[in-house]
Amino acid sequence: MFLPEIQSVAMWKKVLAAVLGVIVGYSLIDDFNPDSLKGKNVVITGASAGIGEQMAYHYARMGANVLVTARTEKKLQEVVAKCKELGRSDGIYHYISADMSNLTSTELVIREAISKMGGIDYLVLNHIIVIPLGMWKGSPDNLTRMDKIVDVNYKSYVHLTSHALPFLEESKGSIVVVSSLAGKVAQPFSGVYSSTKFALDGFFGSLRQEFALRNCDVSVTLCVIGLVATESAISELKNFKQFFLLNNIKAAEPPDAAYAIIRGGALRAREIYFPYMETRVLTMLRDWLPKTVDYINRFVYTTS
Ligand SMILES: *[C@@H]1O[C@H](CO)[C@@H](O)[C@H](O)[C@H]1NC(C)=O
Ligand SMILES: *[C@@H]1O[C@H](CO)[C@@H](O)[C@H](O)[C@H]1NC(C)=O
Repeated sequence: MFLPEIQSVAMWKKVLAAVLGVIVGYSLIDDFNPDSLKGKNVVITGASAGIGEQMAYHYARMGANVLVTARTEKKLQEVVAKCKELGRSDGIYHYISADMSNLTSTELVIREAISKMGGIDYLVLNHIIVIPLGMWKGSPDNLTRMDKIVDVNYKSYVHLTSHALPFLEESKGSIVVVSSLAGKVAQPFSGVYSSTKFALDGFFGSLRQEFALRNCDVSVTLCVIGLVATESAISELKNFKQFFLLNNIKAAEPPDAAYAIIRGGALRAREIYFPYMETRVLTMLRDWLPKTVDYINRFVYTTS
């Protein structure tokens, strides 16, 4: 045996092409196996509608046990009924209705999950308070509203994680944080929303580092989600008369977003971007061409 000497430029090019081919080919292999979720215990917040609801159905179909939470009991009952239809006959499906602006309820949710499922493998933090888009005026109304938004969109995430952490460490589980492009790139008319999403990146990025430092085998996946055609997102844009965005940018389907998030969590990815191109490219360009990215963001939001 001998290794052929690589002498000519042509030969080098072939080697380079082969290496690139292997890298590209490797990156196209989908190593997500939905069967890996069979029997796993999943808690999903904000699961009465939108992406959260669709995640509950995917998880049930993949054989996981699911505890869903949100405010509206009636919607949660419907989601649980559908999970029972889609999931394993011996699967565990429950709900607990809770208002995340009351931080006491975060502990109740985790306690309920443990009492119903016996453990937690995936903590999927997805809920938000839906806030009308608007210009920040610094008015008393703006300021009082901010407190509730910060409680629901940020503090409750930290509280839920803190209560669930002992159980996640035991199961070597995963924290899946649903964020937004607005948590990587600031956009107009959603300053407080955007700041809570940036805050999640900061807190959970720090937590991920600490897990590595103390050999804690819990993964943290931050999900950077772009425009998805959920009822709440679309009606919010319509109420704010964002017809340019609605007519020119194709919103992704909620079940596809839900699948991408579940896949990222199962693969213990550090971050996922969905829809990939719009969210990844803008996030990358944010540091290289900040003014251009700002311009794009101002351009797509029209004010009449
Ligand atoms: C918050 O939730 C707890 C537990 O359900 C309840 O006892 C308390 O009254 C609630 N607080 C408010 C301000 O609604
Ligand atoms: C701020 O308050 C003004 C009225 O005081 C309102 O028109 C505007 O929509 C509010 N903006 C936000 C982001 O809440």
